[in-house]
Amino acid sequence: MRPPSLPPSSLADAFGRPLRDLRISVTDRCNLRCTYCMPAEVFGPGYAFLPRTELLTFEEIERLAAAFVALGVQKLRLTGGEPLLRRDLPELVARLARMDGVQDIALTTNGLLLPRLAVPLKAAGLQRVTVSIDSLDPDIFGRMNGLGTHPDRVLDGIEAALQAGLGVKVNTVVQRGVNDAGLRQLWLALRDKAVVRFIEFMDVGNHNGWNMAAVVPSREVLARLSEDGLGSEFSPTQANYRGEVAARHQGAQGHEVGLISSVTAPFCGDCSRARLSAVGILYTCLFAGSGTDLRAPLRAGASDEEVRAQIARVWQVRQDRYSEERGEITTRQKVEMSHIGG
Ligand code: GTP
Ligand code: 5AD
Ligand code: SF4
Ligand code: SF4
Repeated sequence: MRPPSLPPSSLADAFGRPLRDLRISVTDRCNLRCTYCMPAEVFGPGYAFLPRTELLTFEEIERLAAAFVALGVQKLRLTGGEPLLRRDLPELVARLARMDGVQDIALTTNGLLLPRLAVPLKAAGLQRVTVSIDSLDPDIFGRMNGLGTHPDRVLDGIEAALQAGLGVKVNTVVQRGVNDAGLRQLWLALRDKAVVRFIEFMDVGNHNGWNMAAVVPSREVLARLSEDGLGSEFSPTQANYRGEVAARHQGAQGHEVGLISSVTAPFCGDCSRARLSAVGILYTCLFAGSGTDLRAPLRAGASDEEVRAQIARVWQVRQDRYSEERGEITTRQKVEMSHIGG
């Protein structure tokens, strides 16, 4: 990976937001069934996942990623479903890591396959992983992941990533009355190994039974993490980069915690993220109802320039700010989380 040879593109959307970050979903399948993402009642044995032939090939992903990078994207994140289920994933990472202009390659995973894949992924050029774990309590975690999977399996994945030399962050989705009692225990157990971030339960997709009462506002999370139960030992710290999703805070002993407050403190104003589904549909918001098919022009023989022009057209008219509008919108069909990976 080399620094960009050209100055970053000045492509901006309708609100002046640049395109900086591309999240690439490589599969819609997952080996867990988290209730807030892919509830087992909906994503059961009869669920029609995408057929393999529909998925973008690695060549196609590489071509599209290069088009995004030429338009200003500096950061790539591989997502799913569960991205480690995609066969030969290190090969894709190697292709992306070779690309001029890419400054950061990360991956969001449930961690279960990291013991097998952390070393080859690191060797291929992956820099860091974000691992999701919602509780250290086997019963609570087992219920939340829908399959009874034990938290130790995720902890083994985190260890494997650390051993392989990958940077590790942890994502914990917080739901009231479900896992909110164990947040401090989780933070204390993991804060020396990884940056832990707590995510407010969001109304993603169409099936997760979201309601405001189940959201624990981040300021309450902070209070629960602190020794005095008031949150006073934490102080906010500077964002690492413009548009950072997690608001960083520091505890009394210098440990960092991240709060992702999409519900109580939306961050649409700085949102520079595009999302590419596993079949090549470009979504300009996590909560989008529809997207733009980029696979069809690719397979019809479009040139790189035509692909770039298509992406630029979509970005220039972008007006998404769903999290800021949430109160005004009640019913709207949204893309599934498993198609765009968060
Ligand atoms: P870093 O590069 O480490 O800062 O990663 P990140 O926080 O951008 O990526 P990650 O996938 O870990 O994001 C954490 C979670 O925040 C996601 O899984 C989503 O649940 C949520 N999130 C990320 N981006 C957005 C966004 O644009 N809008 C909303 N509403 N939520 C987002
Ligand atoms: N609300 C908040 N975060 C969610 N994630 C998945 N579904 C939701 C939701 N409804 C998180 C996962 C993972 C990332 C991909 O998104 O826990 O960390
Ligand atoms: Fe799978 Fe991640 Fe969704 Fe859980 S949150 S079902 S691990 S994709
Ligand atoms: Fe970006 Fe949409 Fe999330 Fe707002 S709701 S931060 S526009 S992805």
